Amino acid sequence: MNIFGFIIHPLNIDDVVNSCKIFRITPKWFLERSLKWSKPFKVCEAHLTPSIDEKIKGYFIGVPLLLRQMLSLDERLVLNKIISAVRIAESLGAKIVGLGGFASVVGDKGITIANRSRVPVTSGNTYTAYAVLKAVLDMTKVKGKNLKWSKVAIIGAGGSIGSLCARKLSFYASKIFLTARHREKLEKLKESILKLNSIEVIIEDDNNRAIRDADIVIITTSSPQAILNINDFKSGAIVCDVSLPKNIIGDIDSRKDVTFIEGGLIKIPFDIKYLGIGIGLPQNIMYACMAETILLCLEKRFEKFSLGDNINIEKLEEIGRISKRYGFEVMYQ
Ligand SMILES: NC(=O)c1ccc[n+]([C@@H]2O[C@H](COP(=O)([O-])OP(=O)(O)OC[C@H]3O[C@@H](n4cnc5c(N)ncnc54)[C@H](OP(=O)(O)O)[C@@H]3O)[C@@H](O)[C@H]2O)c1
Repeated sequence: MNIFGFIIHPLNIDDVVNSCKIFRITPKWFLERSLKWSKPFKVCEAHLTPSIDEKIKGYFIGVPLLLRQMLSLDERLVLNKIISAVRIAESLGAKIVGLGGFASVVGDKGITIANRSRVPVTSGNTYTAYAVLKAVLDMTKVKGKNLKWSKVAIIGAGGSIGSLCARKLSFYASKIFLTARHREKLEKLKESILKLNSIEVIIEDDNNRAIRDADIVIITTSSPQAILNINDFKSGAIVCDVSLPKNIIGDIDSRKDVTFIEGGLIKIPFDIKYLGIGIGLPQNIMYACMAETILLCLEKRFEKFSLGDNINIEKLEEIGRISKRYGFEVMYQ
């Protein structure tokens, strides 16, 4: 049976507190500090049976670091912990390992981790970008919008998912606004977009200005906290936030005039049996990065499929075709 590994980590201290009874009576500051010295461990195992003659198994390996710690602690310490987690998956027989949460964001986005592992590693970002684009393009049709006449804003466009979304959307849109923290990356992205299509690409320094009047907004930043307010979107806008944690502050129900999509959620056509504490997701729903790892395992494509910033449009089409073949569906809620 083919086996995959998937690296996970708690987003915040409450995730840790809720994972074990004894942690509920442990002071949070102590818990958080002790995580730094804790080793990665096997959280649970999952059995997937897509058809009678097909079975795969997955091991979820926990890196005991909060999102905040992943971003603030010494990068070598964080990467070493992730690499140890990948090695645990490898020792359990995994033939490919996916990087969940910020394991795919820290450092050079999986490249160092992959170079120091014997087993191929994937960030899952190609399928995540595919899921974002599919949801946005489908919803645009449902809402009767024409991308050619829409203002599109990509918040966090300098990154792995954002830049792929921007390049692909340049085939449909005529005006795209890009934001990130560093302008240089966006300048390079603009050049590569203009080589693909001659459209209007505007680099914007201010996230709020970029979303003002935008008809389509894709949010794909690595910001650990919300950066956009629910009240600042244009009435009638379609907003897809794939960031984890979510980047929008405010009550989504208070803006019935805006279509919000939780980006990067996939529904699979068979159940997953979790042995152990599970990973807190409904039976057949998962994040796209996890779904990419599963698809590659089902396809026996044990390769470094998505790594770093340089993921490409051809792979986007390819992972889309593979996912359709297995009946994986992009969710819109
Ligand atoms: N739902 C899923 O299945 C799924 C899967 C994978 C990832 N994700 C989430 O998707 C997000 C993006 O992942 P990624 O791998 O593409 O990350 P990434 O490559 O690190 O890119 C993040 C981008 O966000 C920008 N950014 C950070 N803070 C910002 C701010 N305050 N304002 C504007 N831009 C900001 C960065 O700017 P610079 O370029 O200037 O640094 C970068 O361009 C993360 O939140 C990740 O957790 C979700």
